Amino acid sequence: MNKQLRKTVIAGNWKMNKTPQETTQLIEEIKPLVANASCDIVVCVPYIDLHAALEATKGSNIYVGAENCHWEQNGAFTGEISAAMLSAIGVHYVIIGHSERRTYFGETDVTVNQRVRAALKEGLTVILCVGEYLEQREQGVTDELVAMQVKIALGGVSKEDLNNIIIAYEPVWAIGTGKTATAQQANEVCAVIRKTVAELYCENCANAITIQYGGSMNAKNADELLSQPDVDGGLIGGASLKAPDFAAIVAAASKS
Ligand code: 13P
Repeated sequence: MNKQLRKTVIAGNWKMNKTPQETTQLIEEIKPLVANASCDIVVCVPYIDLHAALEATKGSNIYVGAENCHWEQNGAFTGEISAAMLSAIGVHYVIIGHSERRTYFGETDVTVNQRVRAALKEGLTVILCVGEYLEQREQGVTDELVAMQVKIALGGVSKEDLNNIIIAYEPVWAIGTGKTATAQQANEVCAVIRKTVAELYCENCANAITIQYGGSMNAKNADELLSQPDVDGGLIGGASLKAPDFAAIVAAASKS
């Protein structure tokens, strides 16, 4: 019932794949396949591909996102890109706190929060990623850990700004491994996230926020995952790089 209150959003996270030329090609392939979708569609691409993606998606129902941003507007941060720069070229979305950033690039809950606030300030919609490692699941601390990640990431974020936040639950053990969380596991943690938002803000805020699942979502398992009451979309890695697979997930989301 509450699901109707929320936007279903399917986002591709292309990670470090595709050149600008390949970006144009893949988007041209995806466009006709998703033209009649009733969910929101986003492709999050490497910085170097943003221009090509913006050009190729013009006039379509596909939004463009980046895969990260820095928390300062500008300055001596060699190799970084600010939220202000993304917004200046017309990017709408940005992924923040992906587990690959946390694991390989030293991002912490605190820097995730700084990036979230910078992105919101520039009018971007944030896809905030949270999720546990396998050992943490086995230790039984998933719920507490994910709630803590959400609380720290949303520190200083107003109720109004919450409208520009999507939370993606991505269990680290399910990313790129072919091991998907069961639909029940995915739903349970998405519900914990929703409860955390209710505690931090309000019941209506929790009912309105889009919560995605990510981790080996594909054309085959999307239907079951997306039909869960607390799963409002997907953040898709590998399967977002193949137009027919991505389109099949979009089609599943358009039904849910
Ligand atoms: P896979 O779909 O390849 O498991 O990646 C998920 C992910 O990390 C999306 O951000």
